[in-house]
Amino acid sequence: MRIALIGYGKMGKLLDQLAPSQGMEVAGRYDVGDALTAEQFRAVDVALDFTTPSAALENLPRLVALGLDLVVGTTGWQEQLKPLQTLVKRHNTGFVYGSNFSIGVNVFYRVAAEAARLLRDRAEYDPWIHEIHHKMKLDAPSGTALKLRDVLAAEYGGREINISSSRAGTISGTHTVGFDSEADTITLTHTARSRVGFALGALYAAKWIHGKKDFYEFSEVLFGK
Ligand SMILES: NC(=O)c1ccc[n+]([C@@H]2O[C@H](COP(=O)([O-])OP(=O)(O)OC[C@H]3O[C@@H](n4cnc5c(N)ncnc54)[C@H](OP(=O)(O)O)[C@@H]3O)[C@@H](O)[C@H]2O)c1
Repeated sequence: MRIALIGYGKMGKLLDQLAPSQGMEVAGRYDVGDALTAEQFRAVDVALDFTTPSAALENLPRLVALGLDLVVGTTGWQEQLKPLQTLVKRHNTGFVYGSNFSIGVNVFYRVAAEAARLLRDRAEYDPWIHEIHHKMKLDAPSGTALKLRDVLAAEYGGREINISSSRAGTISGTHTVGFDSEADTITLTHTARSRVGFALGALYAAKWIHGKKDFYEFSEVLFGK
């Protein structure tokens, strides 16, 4: 399988390093300022995008229009999800996006949902979310924290869910979901130890989406629609 990397930052370089171990050849590497033309992607099966929110908003419609299957890890652009979904349907391509390509985090979403379900009728427990990442991360709250909020909200309906973010040093990403009552506190924490989990998940998604049509969130790749 031949892949192209859109964005050659920390994630792009790691994908480049790990792709051969997953049986993939990196056929193109594109960074800021590189033109993305049909010619460059003729021999590419799937493109993986790990750039910036503004770059993704500009590049993704163009890449879909070229008929490319895509895996998108960039976060912070998802207010444009609906128009992009329409575009993917129109061009009949495959598209996987995810705020977090770690398999552990996707299990964590499910565990958090189950905790929220168990506490749904326990008004004495207030939920909250905290996330901390390295100081270079552009978006806050993280896409993962926003997804956790959606996961909890789906169980809770109208209850307010407080989210806080910190940015410091080189931390790869820690997310905590908590429930606090007068009597006690429950905390669930996921700590990413490195970026390798994200990269392997994204490469797995690339293999999975190749030749498929439609629009998927990464957890649907792992657990079904
Ligand atoms: N879903 C997940 O599992 C997951 C995991 C980790 C990270 N992420 C997300 O993935 C994105 C990238 O993360 P990262 O840590 O790799 O960041 P990074 O090291 O800053 O890399 C981003 C790269 O994209 C390049 N870029 C900027 N504009 C571009 C454009 N128009 N076309 C092509 N490339 C462009 C940047 O170039 P310059 O440096 O020259 O601007 C940089 O090399 C972020 O949104 C982050 O939140 C997602």
